[in-house]
Amino acid sequence: MSVVSKTVFSELKINSMTLPNRIVVPAMVTRLSGEDGFVNDDITNRYVRFAKGGAGLVVLEAMAVHHSKSGPLLRICDDEFVPGLRGLRDQMRDAGPGCVVPQIIHFLKISRSGWRQKVEDLSISDIDAIVDAYAAAAVRTVAAGYDGVELHMAHAYTLSSFLSRLNKRRDDYGGSLNRRLHLPVRVIQSVRREVGDEYPIGVRFDGEECIKGGYTVEEARLIALRLVQSGVDYVSVSAGGKFEDAQPREGEPPYPYTGYSGDRCMPGKTYPNGANLYIAAGIKEFLREQGHSAPVIATGKINTPDLAESILTDGNADLIGMARPILCDPDWPRKVEAGNWEKVIRCCYANVCKAKDERFQTVTCFLWPRSSTQAPESDDVVEPTWPETGAALTADGTKGRISLKWEPATDNEAVYGYDIWRAIEGGEFERIDAVPAPVTAYHDTTAIKGLRYMYRVRGYDLAGNRTQASGEVAAEIS
Ligand SMILES: Cc1cc2nc3c(=O)[nH]c(=O)nc-3n(C[C@H](O)[C@H](O)[C@H](O)COP(=O)(O)O)c2cc1C
Repeated sequence: MSVVSKTVFSELKINSMTLPNRIVVPAMVTRLSGEDGFVNDDITNRYVRFAKGGAGLVVLEAMAVHHSKSGPLLRICDDEFVPGLRGLRDQMRDAGPGCVVPQIIHFLKISRSGWRQKVEDLSISDIDAIVDAYAAAAVRTVAAGYDGVELHMAHAYTLSSFLSRLNKRRDDYGGSLNRRLHLPVRVIQSVRREVGDEYPIGVRFDGEECIKGGYTVEEARLIALRLVQSGVDYVSVSAGGKFEDAQPREGEPPYPYTGYSGDRCMPGKTYPNGANLYIAAGIKEFLREQGHSAPVIATGKINTPDLAESILTDGNADLIGMARPILCDPDWPRKVEAGNWEKVIRCCYANVCKAKDERFQTVTCFLWPRSSTQAPESDDVVEPTWPETGAALTADGTKGRISLKWEPATDNEAVYGYDIWRAIEGGEFERIDAVPAPVTAYHDTTAIKGLRYMYRVRGYDLAGNRTQASGEVAAEIS
């Protein structure tokens, strides 16, 4: 299949920055930093790799604007962090043409007992300090040479909790929608005052809270409008990720991605592609109706060039956020632009990265070679091959699921994994999953009795070169 991605690879100007293409790596905590919050070699390697991969905009993982204690997290709460952040930007500039903006975050306190500070607990001077901390951090992003700054107003964190319909404050900062917007708007205005009119300011916020009583896209349209009216240059739409429905964990602080709202934030295997697209589309439509042209970023299981291109050409968003797909293969943009979609290592949404984040472990991809800290890199062009006798793919439907087995492929470097393809007999094949090598078996637990399925498998190496498709095998559940 030849994929035409003309719009994906077109430029976009956002205030003073020009993105070389429409692919955005949204912020993704790496847990590579220490608790000291300084940039280190592992962090640098992670982001240099993203820059090299060619994304139009890389948003650096959330970094704290204040000194509050947390697990491993980058910080931008003091001038002492600027030299490290500047060094990172310089190295990313040498590696690729994309723009880079740090995401800056304020969060409230939580404890292992399950207690968490709420927006209702903050005094007016606490609120003023949050405004000042964002403004000072934004000034540091300028000093460190970044192309812009992204204000984190999504998920379980302070500004999102002010925007929330569950904000229970009874003063100027809670209650009506306008009052819930008060602090986020103050933050934007004070950041704008500090960084000047030309410096790009983006906002990431939840287009739906995805919790009982939370707001939906209906209010999110108005929130986006007010944020843009207050001086924001782009709007990055996320969803969910709240404390309210987090699963309690004995002796552990709550993690806001363990409930349904967490699933909606990082939709796993069971969700359709483009799961949250309708939210970004609704927000964009409203902004345009109101005469605002601020670009809107859609994110959430957008993983193929066809889907990305159609989202842009249908006018549903201006930029495509791809977090886990680019963690999985940072070279996604570079490969697709060169017409090599077939060589992309494709995320299978196993959410092992999410589980690692939850446990404060280094965030890696399930499909990477075991014990790798970074995505593998190779420019090899030699395809892996099946044994002379072929892949010998077999399928067994006797245990209420369809179990596949095949022979390992071989490669001049290393076989890295296998894509699993499936069709309902007579229909088109789609790639349904992947397994990392040396695994050569797969259980399809989503097949149902009464349908006849066809399967095939393709192996891939570190550079994404694929084997020929294995022979096809038919199966049904007996
Ligand atoms: C390990 C991990 C860390 C994340 N960290 C952040 C973060 O720091 N800030 C943020 O706004 N979103 C964060 N996200 C959410 C992603 O930016 C993105 O919205 C989500 O993964 C859905 O997009 P995707 O389907 O392209 O992965 C994180 C996601 C993952 C998997």
